Amino acid sequence: MTKKIIIEKVQALFAPDHSGHDFFHTERVYRTAMGIAEHYSCNCEIVALAALLHDVDDPKLFSTKDYSNARKIMAEAGIDGETAREVIAIISKMSFRGTGAQVPESLEGKIVQDADRLDAIGAIGIARAFAYGGNHNRKMHDPAQRPNTGMDEDTYRSQKGTTINHFYEKLLLLKDLMNTEYAKTMAENRTQIMEAFLAEFMDEWDGRR
Ligand code: ADP
Ligand code: NI
Repeated sequence: MTKKIIIEKVQALFAPDHSGHDFFHTERVYRTAMGIAEHYSCNCEIVALAALLHDVDDPKLFSTKDYSNARKIMAEAGIDGETAREVIAIISKMSFRGTGAQVPESLEGKIVQDADRLDAIGAIGIARAFAYGGNHNRKMHDPAQRPNTGMDEDTYRSQKGTTINHFYEKLLLLKDLMNTEYAKTMAENRTQIMEAFLAEFMDEWDGRR
């Protein structure tokens, strides 16, 4: 029942968000992470907790300090201190930051990071990218703007690039950052979907199809 309590609390925190970081993102990351975890010998409770809590202290969404949302939810759900520490160690390393991505040390953390990155690619990833672009007033595409890979954190966050460029700057690169072999295979399938989409997009843009 602990999981139900945690799910309700995370749902309440994300209720107002429509930017692609809503509770459904957390739910997909949770399901994907559990699916990856089945193929490895790891602690499923840690995977589940870290997946459910991985975004509750994201600085882009919340102004909490020292992972206080995650700590509070785990304390209220009666999670023991050692488990809570392992979960915090994972979520503190999770986010993709320009080119300086960090990898969680534990296998459980690597699995949750893979699941989070998988949610940025494939059909869901395409939908999220255009939803994000619309939300931030970005152009879909502008042939005069070239993709800019290898940006640092500040440039990555502040630039006003097109959504199509985001595929070349980040989304197509994620498959090579997968930690686990199982997630890498999933990422390769999802990347093929994006490549087919981009080829079709350019054909239609240029009037070839
Ligand atoms: P996270 O903190 O989960 O790594 P972001 O906040 O960078 O993610 O991104 C959330 C979602 O919005 C992802 O699906 C990502 O691909 C998409 N996104 C982020 N930046 C852009 C952008 N410049 N253009 C289009 N989509 C973006
Ligand atoms: Ni996430």
